Amino acid sequence: MKISTSFLTSRNIPRDLGILNDTDTDFIHVDVMDGKFVKNKTMPFKEMKNIYKYTSKRLDVHLMVKKPSKYIKDYATLNTAYLTIHIEAEEDLDMLLELIKSYGIKCGISIRPSTDLELLRPYLKKVDLILLMSVEPGQGGQSFLEDTQDRLKELKQMCKEEKSHCLISVDGGINDETKKFVKGADILVSGSYVINSYDFQNAIDDLR
Ligand code: DX5
Ligand code: ZN
Repeated sequence: MKISTSFLTSRNIPRDLGILNDTDTDFIHVDVMDGKFVKNKTMPFKEMKNIYKYTSKRLDVHLMVKKPSKYIKDYATLNTAYLTIHIEAEEDLDMLLELIKSYGIKCGISIRPSTDLELLRPYLKKVDLILLMSVEPGQGGQSFLEDTQDRLKELKQMCKEEKSHCLISVDGGINDETKKFVKGADILVSGSYVINSYDFQNAIDDLR
């Protein structure tokens, strides 16, 4: 099981990224919010890009924005492994996926808890990753939505039917209790459970 750690709820990002750099987290999950797709807004990229000098881990970027193209161009300049857009975004999805691929970065699509999974079907062969939301996107520290368990099963079945080899990542409310609901996932995104713990490595070990 791979772990992608989100620092969204960190109160000291340079310090926490430094500590995470010495753990075996596989990725740093970067939550980007535009104040339109979701209510909250994260700091401008100009400031964000200075923060990433505190980590040599690869980034797993989650764009919770209405119009991802300009964010894709920005994050493509960093050490980004995955760039994930939302199926509910307001630009052409095929264009966005091609844009991500043009930078040699792996592409993902994320889906809100209330959106019909069938909308993903045409894209399953075109993406490297599906980021299944297990909370409403917009903030860290929320409770895991238990019907994610059934959505994960349905998504895995669809991937099988479409002969897709994309990875499945689950994001939101993941901790040592809720991880049992998402056993079939390839990557777990965890924010507050890791960041609020005394020992980041211990918390990561508990999730694997
Ligand atoms: C929610 C974000 C998540 C969140 C995860 O909008 O996409 O990545 O930060 O944090 P926890 O683990 O606290 O739910
Ligand atoms: Zn996220």
